[in-house]
Amino acid sequence: MAGEQKPVDTSRRARLELRGVKKSFGGAEVIRGVDLHVEQGEFCVFVGPSGCGKSTLLRMISGLEDISAGEVRIGDEVVNDIPAAERGLAMVFQSYALYPHMTVRQNLSFGLENLRTPRAEIATKVDEVAAMLQIDGLLDRRPKDLSGGQRQRVAIGRAVVREPRIFLFDEPLSNLDAELRVEMRGEISRLHGRLGNTMIYVTHDQVEAMTMADKIVVLRDGRVEQTGAPLELYNRPANLFVAGFIGSPRMNFLSGSVEGGRLRLENGEAVRLPEEGFSLREGSAVTLGIRPNHLFPAAGEGSGLHATVRSIEQLGGDSYIYAATPTGDQVTLHRPGQTDLQIGTDVYLDHDPQVAHLFDSTNGQSLRQV
Ligand SMILES: Nc1ncnc2c1ncn2[C@@H]1O[C@H](COP(=O)(O)OP(=O)(O)O)[C@@H](O)[C@H]1O
Ligand SMILES: [Mg+2]
Repeated sequence: MAGEQKPVDTSRRARLELRGVKKSFGGAEVIRGVDLHVEQGEFCVFVGPSGCGKSTLLRMISGLEDISAGEVRIGDEVVNDIPAAERGLAMVFQSYALYPHMTVRQNLSFGLENLRTPRAEIATKVDEVAAMLQIDGLLDRRPKDLSGGQRQRVAIGRAVVREPRIFLFDEPLSNLDAELRVEMRGEISRLHGRLGNTMIYVTHDQVEAMTMADKIVVLRDGRVEQTGAPLELYNRPANLFVAGFIGSPRMNFLSGSVEGGRLRLENGEAVRLPEEGFSLREGSAVTLGIRPNHLFPAAGEGSGLHATVRSIEQLGGDSYIYAATPTGDQVTLHRPGQTDLQIGTDVYLDHDPQVAHLFDSTNGQSLRQV
C-alpha cells in the first residue's frame, strides 16, 4: 500500500564466505587463495588496481566462473557446484546488459517470467521497483531511448525485482559522467538502506569505496591485502600497498634508516619519526608515510625536509603543491585555502609525527604496534 513501509524480509539476506578460493586460467593463477566473510546485510566493496582479479572473484561468487580450488558458501551452503541461476544472486554490470529489443517493463519482468511468477504478481513488483528507482515513466521505452543513467537504473531494477539473497555490482557507475555517478552512488546506498540486502560492489573509485562501504576488501594480484571499515584502512593501513592505494592524493613515502629516533635519508637529511605507537629498531630500513594534508611548510627557515616546488594546483578552496626532494622523491602537500608558494621555490617541509605511518622497507609491513 502506498506510504506504508513493508517490513524487511531478512530471509533474503545471506552471509557470504570464501575459503581458500583460487582461480586459474590455463596455467595462470589469477585468484591466489582468498579468505573472506561478508556478513548478512553488509555492503562490501572490492577495490584494487585493474587486473587484480575483482571481476573474476565476483563472477566466481555469482557462478558465472567456476572455482579452481576452495569453497564459496552462501548462508550455510557450499555453492561451488550450484549453477548461477540457482544461487539466488543478481548481478549488475558496467555495460548494463539490457535486452535491446525489449521494453523497460519487459526487461524488468523477464527474470520473473523465467521463474514462472504469476503475471499479476510480476506487474505489481515491476511497478513497485520502477517507482522506487524513478523509472516508472519509462516502462514502455526501449533501452536505446534511455540515457546512460536511466539504463543503469533499469539494470539495477532488474536485479531488485528478483529479490536476490546477495546483490553483486561490477563497476556499475563507470560509464556514467561525474555528476551522475555522485547521484547514483547516493541512490545505491539508499537502496541498500531500504532493502537491507547483502551487497558486494566492485569499483576502482576511491570515493565510492570510502563512502558506500561497511567493509572494504583491498585486492592486489589475486590476494587480499587488507579488509576493514573504510576509516580503519585509511587510519591504520597494514602495509605500504594499502597505504598508497587508499587515500587521494596518495600518501607520501620517504625511505631511510632509523637513527636516534629520526629518519636518516639517503642524502643525510633527518626527518622526525613518530615517538610512540611503532616499533623502531636503530639502523633498520624504514619507510615513513605522510598524508598530503599532514605535510606543510616548516615554521623555521632551514629546518625540516628540503624540497623544490615543481607544480601547483589552486582549486580555490584547496591547494595541491607537488615538490621533489634532493633524493628524487616526489611529495604532495594538500593545504586548505590558497597558497602563495611559487614554482621553482625551495621549501622546508615539516609534518606531525603523531599522525604519520611507518613501514618496514624490506617487507612493506606496517610497524604499528597493535
Ligand atoms: N577468461 C579469462 N581467460 C584468461 N584470463 C582471464 C580471463 N578473465 C580474466 N583473466 C585475467 O585475470 C586477471 C584478473 O582479471 P579481472 O578479474 O578482470 O581483473 P579486474 O576486474 O580486477 O580488473 C587479469 O590478468 C585478466 O587478464
Ligand atoms: Mg573488472
